[in-house]
Amino acid sequence: MIITICGGGSTFTAGIVKSIALRREELEVDEIRLFDIFKERQDKVAVIVDWILHEELKCDIKLTVTTDPETAYTDASFIFAQMRVGGYAMREQDEKIPLRHGCVGQETCGTGGMAYGMRTIFPMMKMIDDAEKYAKKDYWILNYSNPASIVSEACRRLRPNARIINICDMPIAIIDVVAAAMNIKDKENIVYDYFGLNHFGWFTSITYKGEDLMPRLREYIMEHKILLPDAYLKDKAALGVSANKEKGTEGNRHTKGSWYYVWKGVYEIMANFPDMLPNTYLNYYLQQKEFVEHSNPDHTRANEVMETREKNLFDGVDTYLATGKVDEKVFYAGSHGDWIADLAIALKNDTKARFLIITENRGTIPNMPYDAMVEVPAYIGKNGPEVISRDPIPLFQQGLMMQQLNSEKLLVEGCIEGSYEKVLQAFTLNKTVPSMTVAKEILDDMIEANKDFWPELK
Ligand code: G6P
Ligand code: MN
Repeated sequence: MIITICGGGSTFTAGIVKSIALRREELEVDEIRLFDIFKERQDKVAVIVDWILHEELKCDIKLTVTTDPETAYTDASFIFAQMRVGGYAMREQDEKIPLRHGCVGQETCGTGGMAYGMRTIFPMMKMIDDAEKYAKKDYWILNYSNPASIVSEACRRLRPNARIINICDMPIAIIDVVAAAMNIKDKENIVYDYFGLNHFGWFTSITYKGEDLMPRLREYIMEHKILLPDAYLKDKAALGVSANKEKGTEGNRHTKGSWYYVWKGVYEIMANFPDMLPNTYLNYYLQQKEFVEHSNPDHTRANEVMETREKNLFDGVDTYLATGKVDEKVFYAGSHGDWIADLAIALKNDTKARFLIITENRGTIPNMPYDAMVEVPAYIGKNGPEVISRDPIPLFQQGLMMQQLNSEKLLVEGCIEGSYEKVLQAFTLNKTVPSMTVAKEILDDMIEANKDFWPELK
């Protein structure tokens, strides 16, 4: 059984490989392949991956590292896709350009996310075509390449028959933090209900062994004025919810640096709208002005990541090569990798475990369009996801979602058709943008910054 990681040079690769290797018996995996278009970067990551597989865990999983799609995908059963088109350098642009115009600058939300989407759509289609051509007929692509909403809408439109499941780890990360706040050690006993678009959703119920956690959680958030447990705030480095159950990993990165604000934002949103627990990303849409005020337009999350996660990883590789010692803190392991590997297990072994996935609505949320790509719970087995449908959603959430959905749909259409007008409509419609004129200013700057990546807009 072959698992290919597309985006092998990612800072997450080593952690994901470790999660796979720890589950090697359930996955019956014989070979892991790393594929990336950046050889040098991937070769460095591969040094640590090799160490994890063959030194640390001493398993007999074969490791192949390649920049050739045929070598990467031939006979693969699973493709874990995590491409970042344009790398962190372009993430920095996505975050900084909108901020220069007084708007939310974020990797996946608002106009930054749309710029990233326009870079990613066609490379994703190429990857699907390669999988169709070379992989096993019953391959599965588990895609967590961002921006997942836009990417999944593009897949729905352009490759409707691809065996791809689009997923996101943010709800899992939120549940990790909820578990820590509620002092729950066995987080696998937490069951939740959720609806939304990707990075744009709400938990409607969270239960633990049958207990409704929402009242206790709400009280906790109101009292602490933030969702992060005290321990995270006091000693951010030491604590961390690592599902690999080892201390001293990088911990829960979602609690680091500027992530702080969105956890505080969860309090601010719930102080007004207490019924549901919002996804942290809703802050970018509900507190646009405040986000811009506390942001530093010259130093954004991309800079934080390059200065910490990325630097630590590559320094760690150099240290290993020089001394033979590996400091495990340098590669992020944790629930991110575990959840992807667990999803593959559910598909392969037909476990019917419950996961959130991004999928075509088809009536799942009755008052959202049939063809909206929504994020909802599903039971996962060998025939793919069985989605759980729900009652209509309230007007406030539905209204927000419709605006965001149409913005994303227009973006995808504009990108496919090469239509400047549609892309400008997408930008104008987005809730993070105050006016058509500002939308146009941002778009024109982004066209310039993305000229090596975007299709031409006419
Ligand atoms: C969460 C989201 C991902 C996103 C990541 C960014 O995990 O679900 O979609 O890419 O956060 O985290 P970072 O540490 O790179 O800011
Ligand atoms: Mn995500």
